[in-house]
Amino acid sequence: TVMKIIKVQDQTMGGKAGFAQFDAALKQGASTFGLATGSTPITIYEEIVASDLDFSEKTSINLDEYVGLSGDDVQSYAYFMHEHLFNAKPFAQSYVPNGLAEDADAEVKRYEEIIDANPIDLQLLGLGQNGHIGFNEPGTSFNETTHKVTLTQSTIDANARFFEDENDVPRYAYSMGIASIMKSKNILLVAYGEAKAAAVAAMIEGPVTEDMPASVLQNHANVTVIVDEAAASKL
Ligand code: GLP
Repeated sequence: TVMKIIKVQDQTMGGKAGFAQFDAALKQGASTFGLATGSTPITIYEEIVASDLDFSEKTSINLDEYVGLSGDDVQSYAYFMHEHLFNAKPFAQSYVPNGLAEDADAEVKRYEEIIDANPIDLQLLGLGQNGHIGFNEPGTSFNETTHKVTLTQSTIDANARFFEDENDVPRYAYSMGIASIMKSKNILLVAYGEAKAAAVAAMIEGPVTEDMPASVLQNHANVTVIVDEAAASKL
């Protein structure tokens, strides 16, 4: 299958292009949106916040959450989502994995049941420098559904900038699996910057391999990729 590639000048234009995908999905009657954190989605959320789009009867399901952080913790992904989107644009229901769940097995099972009960119409994804999507690190089986992940050192390093001390970065996360992500009807992956260029090229042009998690998207029928010039520089 062919991924649709949208090249943009910068993150501001990427925000507008990503917003257009959400707008179109709403007009087509989408009811469930898969959402992502990280710096990449921020300009899309800014465009949504500034718009008159209404999600008050819609459902959102986030990709992942750090294990050990409560939703009130400023470093948690639940907190991020409230700050960047939900406070301004509430959904009827918003799901994020519970980082404080006592029983990890029960939590991942509960979360996958939520995904199955609310099929995702449009899933937004960022891209790790090593090709991870959600927190599915290289080597993760394509058959994994929601699971508890041990973060790699490269991901801990990449995310350390959001924490005061590298030692504060959680070592584990709950993440939708590759198989959970692939259940989505449409996928929108966004990547910016030189540091993502190798992963973008491998995702689109390389072999489909568990060593490059995002390459699985070559097996999905409806994928749109938004990249800036730096991220597209190795295509
Ligand atoms: C984190 C998140 C991913 C995100 C990635 C890239 O590890 N779990 O969902 O896509 O980092 O982050 P950024 O967009 O800040 O480059």
